Amino acid sequence: MAHSIAVIGGDGIGPEVVAEALKVVSATGVDITTKEFDLGARHYLETGEVLNDSTLEELRSFDAILLGAIGPAIGSTDVPPGLLERGLLLKLRFALDLYINQRPFISPDPDSGFQGLPIDMVVVRENTEGTYAGEGGFLRRGTPYEVATQGSVNTRFGVERTVIYAFRLASQRPRKHLTLVHKTNVLTYSGDLWQRTFDEVAKEFPDVNVSYSHVDAACIYLVEAPQRYDVVVTDNLFGDILTDLAGAVSGGIGLAASGNLNPERTSPSLFEPVHGAAHDIVGSGKANPTAAIRSAAMMLDFLGEKEAASRVFKALESSPKTNLRTEEIGSFYAERI
Ligand code: IPM
Ligand code: MN
Repeated sequence: MAHSIAVIGGDGIGPEVVAEALKVVSATGVDITTKEFDLGARHYLETGEVLNDSTLEELRSFDAILLGAIGPAIGSTDVPPGLLERGLLLKLRFALDLYINQRPFISPDPDSGFQGLPIDMVVVRENTEGTYAGEGGFLRRGTPYEVATQGSVNTRFGVERTVIYAFRLASQRPRKHLTLVHKTNVLTYSGDLWQRTFDEVAKEFPDVNVSYSHVDAACIYLVEAPQRYDVVVTDNLFGDILTDLAGAVSGGIGLAASGNLNPERTSPSLFEPVHGAAHDIVGSGKANPTAAIRSAAMMLDFLGEKEAASRVFKALESSPKTNLRTEEIGSFYAERI
Protein backbone atom coordinates (compact mmCIF):
# COMPACT_ATOMS: atom_id res chain seq x y z
CA MET A 1 0.00 0.00 0.00
CA ALA A 2 1.14 3.51 -0.74
CA HIS A 3 2.47 5.54 2.17
CA SER A 4 0.44 8.70 2.72
CA ILE A 5 2.61 11.76 3.31
CA ALA A 6 1.39 15.14 4.53
CA VAL A 7 3.60 17.79 2.98
CA ILE A 8 4.03 21.13 4.72
CA GLY A 9 6.34 23.24 2.56
CA GLY A 10 5.90 26.19 4.90
CA ASP A 11 7.71 29.48 4.52
CA GLY A 12 10.71 30.92 2.74
CA ILE A 13 12.87 28.25 1.11
CA GLY A 14 10.77 25.47 2.71
CA PRO A 15 8.68 24.70 -0.41
CA GLU A 16 11.80 24.80 -2.65
CA VAL A 17 13.76 22.25 -0.63
CA VAL A 18 10.74 19.99 -0.06
CA ALA A 19 10.11 19.84 -3.82
CA GLU A 20 13.66 18.51 -4.32
CA ALA A 21 13.22 15.99 -1.50
CA LEU A 22 10.05 14.69 -3.17
CA LYS A 23 11.90 14.51 -6.49
CA VAL A 24 14.43 12.16 -4.88
CA VAL A 25 11.73 10.10 -3.13
CA SER A 26 9.99 9.71 -6.45
CA ALA A 27 13.26 8.50 -8.02
CA THR A 28 13.35 5.62 -5.51
CA GLY A 29 10.08 4.30 -6.92
CA VAL A 30 8.55 3.97 -3.44
CA ASP A 31 4.79 4.27 -3.69
CA ILE A 32 3.62 7.37 -1.86
CA THR A 33 0.62 9.65 -2.00
CA THR A 34 1.03 13.27 -0.92
CA LYS A 35 -1.30 15.97 0.24
CA GLU A 36 -0.06 19.53 0.64
CA PHE A 37 -0.98 21.61 3.66
CA ASP A 38 -0.70 25.36 3.42
CA LEU A 39 0.61 26.34 6.86
CA GLY A 40 3.13 28.86 8.14
CA ALA A 41 3.66 32.63 8.22
CA ARG A 42 2.02 33.37 4.87
CA HIS A 43 -1.01 31.25 5.74
CA TYR A 44 -1.29 32.97 9.12
CA LEU A 45 -1.14 36.44 7.58
CA GLU A 46 -3.81 35.48 5.03
CA THR A 47 -6.21 33.67 7.37
CA GLY A 48 -5.29 34.59 10.96
CA GLU A 49 -4.96 30.88 11.69
CA VAL A 50 -1.83 28.99 12.71
CA LEU A 51 -3.04 25.38 13.04
CA ASN A 52 -6.68 24.65 13.73
CA ASP A 53 -7.94 21.52 15.43
CA SER A 54 -9.45 19.94 12.35
CA THR A 55 -6.18 20.30 10.41
CA LEU A 56 -4.28 18.80 13.33
CA GLU A 57 -6.70 15.86 13.39
CA GLU A 58 -6.39 15.42 9.65
CA LEU A 59 -2.58 15.38 9.93
CA ARG A 60 -2.87 12.53 12.44
CA SER A 61 -4.27 10.26 9.75
CA PHE A 62 -1.10 10.31 7.59
CA ASP A 63 1.79 7.87 7.76
CA ALA A 64 4.37 10.67 7.99
CA ILE A 65 4.76 14.43 7.67
CA LEU A 66 7.46 16.10 5.58
CA LEU A 67 8.06 19.73 6.49
CA GLY A 68 10.25 22.39 4.87
CA ALA A 69 10.59 25.36 7.21
CA ILE A 70 8.34 27.54 9.32
CA GLY A 71 8.84 31.16 10.26
CA PRO A 72 8.58 34.75 9.15
CA ALA A 73 11.58 36.69 7.83
CA ILE A 74 14.05 37.74 10.54
CA GLY A 75 13.13 41.22 11.69
CA SER A 76 9.60 41.20 10.26
CA THR A 77 7.07 42.42 12.82
CA ASP A 78 3.78 41.23 11.34
CA VAL A 79 3.92 37.83 13.08
CA PRO A 80 4.34 37.94 16.88
CA PRO A 81 7.54 36.18 18.04
CA GLY A 82 6.98 32.58 19.03
CA LEU A 83 3.45 32.40 17.61
CA LEU A 84 4.29 30.08 14.73
CA GLU A 85 6.96 28.17 16.62
CA ARG A 86 4.67 27.44 19.56
CA GLY A 87 1.44 27.27 17.56
CA LEU A 88 2.64 25.05 14.73
CA LEU A 89 5.97 23.28 15.01
CA LEU A 90 6.03 22.75 18.76
CA LYS A 91 2.30 22.04 18.75
CA LEU A 92 2.86 19.22 16.27
CA ARG A 93 5.81 17.86 18.27
CA PHE A 94 3.77 17.90 21.48
CA ALA A 95 0.34 16.87 20.15
CA LEU A 96 1.76 13.96 18.14
CA ASP A 97 4.10 13.03 21.03
CA LEU A 98 7.18 13.20 18.80
CA TYR A 99 9.42 12.82 21.81
CA ILE A 100 12.65 12.01 19.96
CA ASN A 101 14.35 14.53 17.73
CA GLN A 102 17.00 12.50 15.95
CA ARG A 103 19.64 14.55 14.15
CA PRO A 104 22.46 12.79 12.30
CA PHE A 105 25.66 14.60 11.29
CA ILE A 106 27.82 13.02 8.63
CA SER A 107 30.68 14.69 6.79
CA PRO A 108 29.80 14.69 3.11
CA ASP A 109 32.81 12.53 2.27
CA PRO A 110 35.82 11.28 4.27
CA ASP A 111 38.18 13.82 2.67
CA SER A 112 36.07 16.78 3.61
CA GLY A 113 35.45 15.73 7.21
CA PHE A 114 36.53 17.98 9.99
CA GLN A 115 40.33 18.28 9.98
CA GLY A 116 40.50 15.39 7.55
CA LEU A 117 38.61 12.95 9.77
CA PRO A 118 35.02 11.98 8.98
CA ILE A 119 32.25 12.93 11.37
CA ASP A 120 29.50 10.39 11.90
CA MET A 121 27.40 11.22 14.91
CA VAL A 122 23.76 11.39 15.94
CA VAL A 123 22.19 13.71 18.47
CA VAL A 124 19.13 12.33 20.23
CA ARG A 125 17.34 15.40 21.50
CA GLU A 126 14.44 15.11 23.95
CA ASN A 127 11.65 16.88 22.07
CA THR A 128 8.61 17.47 24.30
CA GLU A 129 9.90 18.73 27.65
CA GLY A 130 12.60 20.96 29.17
CA THR A 131 12.34 24.72 28.73
CA TYR A 132 10.21 24.10 25.65
CA ALA A 133 7.32 22.93 27.85
CA GLY A 134 6.46 26.60 28.39
CA GLU A 135 6.50 26.56 32.17
CA GLY A 136 7.01 29.99 33.70
CA GLY A 137 5.54 33.42 33.82
CA PHE A 138 5.91 37.07 34.65
CA LEU A 139 5.60 39.02 37.84
CA ARG A 140 4.98 42.76 37.57
CA ARG A 141 5.47 42.63 33.80
CA GLY A 142 6.50 45.94 32.28
CA THR A 143 7.54 47.48 35.58
CA PRO A 144 11.13 48.14 36.66
CA TYR A 145 10.69 45.30 39.16
CA GLU A 146 9.57 42.69 36.72
CA VAL A 147 10.59 39.06 37.01
CA ALA A 148 10.39 36.51 34.21
CA THR A 149 10.84 32.83 34.96
CA GLN A 150 11.16 30.06 32.39
CA GLY A 151 11.27 26.66 34.01
CA SER A 152 12.54 23.39 32.66
CA VAL A 153 10.19 20.44 32.96
CA ASN A 154 11.90 17.05 33.16
CA THR A 155 9.81 13.99 33.96
CA ARG A 156 11.22 10.57 34.77
CA PHE A 157 8.94 9.15 32.08
CA GLY A 158 10.09 11.65 29.45
CA VAL A 159 13.78 11.39 30.27
CA GLU A 160 13.75 7.61 30.54
CA ARG A 161 12.07 6.95 27.21
CA THR A 162 14.55 9.27 25.51
CA VAL A 163 17.56 7.71 27.19
CA ILE A 164 16.33 4.18 26.36
CA TYR A 165 15.91 5.19 22.72
CA ALA A 166 19.46 6.59 22.65
CA PHE A 167 20.94 3.44 24.20
CA ARG A 168 19.12 1.25 21.66
CA LEU A 169 20.41 3.40 18.84
CA ALA A 170 23.97 3.38 20.17
CA SER A 171 23.91 -0.41 20.60
CA GLN A 172 23.06 -0.78 16.89
CA ARG A 173 25.96 1.38 15.68
CA PRO A 174 29.51 0.10 15.09
CA ARG A 175 31.14 2.24 17.81
CA LYS A 176 28.42 1.59 20.41
CA HIS A 177 29.22 4.79 22.23
CA LEU A 178 26.78 7.09 24.00
CA THR A 179 27.47 10.44 25.65
CA LEU A 180 25.09 12.21 27.98
CA VAL A 181 25.37 15.98 27.57
CA HIS A 182 23.99 18.16 30.35
CA LYS A 183 25.10 20.71 32.92
CA THR A 184 24.93 18.62 36.08
CA ASN A 185 27.37 20.89 37.92
CA VAL A 186 24.83 23.73 37.93
CA LEU A 187 21.44 22.23 37.02
CA THR A 188 21.41 20.08 40.12
CA TYR A 189 17.76 19.01 39.87
CA SER A 190 17.23 18.28 36.20
CA GLY A 191 20.85 17.19 35.79
CA ASP A 192 20.49 14.77 38.67
CA LEU A 193 17.38 13.22 37.12
CA TRP A 194 19.08 12.86 33.73
CA GLN A 195 22.28 11.42 35.23
CA ARG A 196 20.51 8.90 37.49
CA THR A 197 18.22 7.77 34.68
CA PHE A 198 21.18 7.46 32.31
CA ASP A 199 23.18 5.40 34.84
CA GLU A 200 20.24 3.08 35.53
CA VAL A 201 19.41 2.47 31.88
CA ALA A 202 23.11 1.92 31.16
CA LYS A 203 22.97 -1.28 33.26
CA GLU A 204 20.54 -2.74 30.71
CA PHE A 205 22.99 -2.04 27.87
CA PRO A 206 26.36 -3.43 29.00
CA ASP A 207 27.61 -3.45 25.39
CA VAL A 208 27.33 0.36 25.10
CA ASN A 209 30.32 2.48 26.22
CA VAL A 210 29.19 5.60 28.00
CA SER A 211 30.61 9.03 28.72
CA TYR A 212 29.44 12.39 29.96
CA SER A 213 30.17 15.96 28.78
CA HIS A 214 29.03 19.21 30.30
CA VAL A 215 27.30 21.15 27.55
CA ASP A 216 29.85 23.99 27.53
CA ALA A 217 32.70 21.52 27.15
CA ALA A 218 30.72 19.67 24.47
CA CYS A 219 30.78 22.90 22.45
CA ILE A 220 34.58 22.91 22.53
CA TYR A 221 34.79 19.23 21.65
CA LEU A 222 32.35 19.68 18.78
CA VAL A 223 34.59 22.37 17.33
CA GLU A 224 37.96 20.77 18.10
CA ALA A 225 37.31 17.05 17.82
CA PRO A 226 33.73 16.20 16.89
CA GLN A 227 34.88 12.69 15.98
CA ARG A 228 34.91 11.86 19.68
CA TYR A 229 31.11 11.61 19.57
CA ASP A 230 29.02 8.72 18.27
CA VAL A 231 25.54 9.10 19.81
CA VAL A 232 24.77 12.05 22.09
CA VAL A 233 21.64 12.22 24.22
CA THR A 234 20.55 15.51 25.72
CA ASP A 235 17.63 17.69 26.70
CA ASN A 236 15.52 19.84 24.43
CA LEU A 237 17.33 23.19 24.63
CA PHE A 238 20.87 21.82 24.79
CA GLY A 239 19.95 19.62 21.83
CA ASP A 240 18.65 22.59 19.88
CA ILE A 241 21.85 24.56 20.36
CA LEU A 242 24.29 21.66 19.96
CA THR A 243 22.71 20.55 16.71
CA ASP A 244 23.22 23.93 15.05
CA LEU A 245 26.85 23.73 16.11
CA ALA A 246 27.19 20.12 14.98
CA GLY A 247 25.67 21.13 11.64
CA ALA A 248 28.12 23.98 11.25
CA VAL A 249 31.17 21.74 11.80
CA SER A 250 29.96 18.84 9.67
CA GLY A 251 29.46 20.54 6.33
CA GLY A 252 27.02 23.34 7.15
CA ILE A 253 23.46 23.67 8.30
CA GLY A 254 22.30 23.07 4.70
CA LEU A 255 23.12 19.38 5.20
CA ALA A 256 21.58 18.83 8.65
CA ALA A 257 18.48 16.61 8.69
CA SER A 258 16.10 15.60 11.43
CA GLY A 259 13.35 13.20 12.33
CA ASN A 260 10.83 14.12 15.00
CA LEU A 261 9.89 10.61 15.96
CA ASN A 262 7.15 8.80 17.77
CA PRO A 263 8.99 5.49 18.05
CA GLU A 264 5.83 3.60 19.09
CA ARG A 265 4.14 4.81 15.90
CA THR A 266 0.94 5.86 17.63
CA SER A 267 1.06 9.01 15.45
CA PRO A 268 2.86 10.08 12.28
CA SER A 269 6.49 11.17 12.69
CA LEU A 270 7.64 14.45 11.19
CA PHE A 271 10.78 14.91 9.11
CA GLU A 272 12.35 18.31 8.49
CA PRO A 273 15.68 19.98 7.80
CA VAL A 274 17.29 21.60 10.87
CA HIS A 275 17.65 24.92 9.03
CA GLY A 276 15.07 27.70 8.93
CA ALA A 277 13.10 29.53 6.24
CA ALA A 278 16.02 31.73 4.99
CA HIS A 279 13.70 34.29 3.41
CA ASP A 280 16.72 36.25 2.17
CA ILE A 281 17.59 33.61 -0.45
CA VAL A 282 14.08 32.60 -1.61
CA GLY A 283 13.97 32.10 -5.37
CA SER A 284 17.71 32.63 -5.78
CA GLY A 285 18.51 28.94 -6.33
CA LYS A 286 20.97 29.13 -3.43
CA ALA A 287 18.96 27.00 -0.98
CA ASN A 288 20.67 23.67 -0.39
CA PRO A 289 18.03 20.89 -0.48
CA THR A 290 20.44 18.27 0.91
CA ALA A 291 19.08 18.49 4.47
CA ALA A 292 15.53 18.06 3.19
CA ILE A 293 16.62 15.12 1.01
CA ARG A 294 18.33 13.40 3.94
CA SER A 295 15.24 14.07 6.10
CA ALA A 296 13.11 12.40 3.42
CA ALA A 297 15.51 9.43 3.43
CA MET A 298 15.07 9.18 7.21
CA MET A 299 11.33 9.21 6.56
CA LEU A 300 11.59 6.32 4.08
CA ASP A 301 13.71 4.39 6.57
CA PHE A 302 11.21 5.01 9.37
CA LEU A 303 8.35 3.91 7.09
CA GLY A 304 10.13 0.59 6.62
CA GLU A 305 11.43 1.33 3.12
CA LYS A 306 14.93 0.38 4.23
CA GLU A 307 16.31 -0.51 0.84
CA ALA A 308 15.10 2.70 -0.83
CA ALA A 309 16.34 4.74 2.12
CA SER A 310 19.78 3.19 1.93
CA ARG A 311 19.96 4.04 -1.79
CA VAL A 312 19.31 7.69 -0.92
CA PHE A 313 21.85 7.64 1.92
CA LYS A 314 24.37 6.11 -0.48
CA ALA A 315 23.68 8.80 -3.09
CA LEU A 316 24.17 11.45 -0.40
CA GLU A 317 27.74 10.23 0.04
CA SER A 318 28.70 11.89 -3.25
CA SER A 319 29.06 15.64 -3.19
CA PRO A 320 27.75 17.67 -6.12
CA LYS A 321 29.87 20.44 -7.60
CA THR A 322 29.66 23.71 -5.73
CA ASN A 323 27.56 26.51 -7.26
CA LEU A 324 24.76 24.19 -8.34
CA ARG A 325 21.26 25.61 -8.03
CA THR A 326 18.67 24.11 -5.68
CA GLU A 327 16.94 22.08 -8.40
CA GLU A 328 20.26 20.97 -9.89
CA ILE A 329 21.32 19.51 -6.54
CA GLY A 330 17.97 17.70 -6.32
CA SER A 331 18.48 16.28 -9.82
CA PHE A 332 22.09 15.35 -9.01
CA TYR A 333 20.89 13.08 -6.20
CA ALA A 334 17.77 11.86 -8.02
CA GLU A 335 20.00 10.64 -10.89
CA ARG A 336 22.12 8.63 -8.47
CA ILE A 337 19.25 6.64 -6.96
C1 IPM B 1 14.71 23.54 15.51
C2 IPM B 1 14.21 24.96 15.54
C3 IPM B 1 12.99 25.02 16.43
C4 IPM B 1 13.42 24.60 17.83
C5 IPM B 1 12.26 26.37 16.47
C6 IPM B 1 11.90 26.85 15.09
C7 IPM B 1 11.06 26.34 17.36
O1 IPM B 1 15.19 25.83 15.95
O2 IPM B 1 13.96 22.65 15.07
O3 IPM B 1 15.86 23.30 15.89
O4 IPM B 1 13.87 25.44 18.61
O5 IPM B 1 13.29 23.42 18.15
MN1 MN C 1 17.13 24.88 16.28
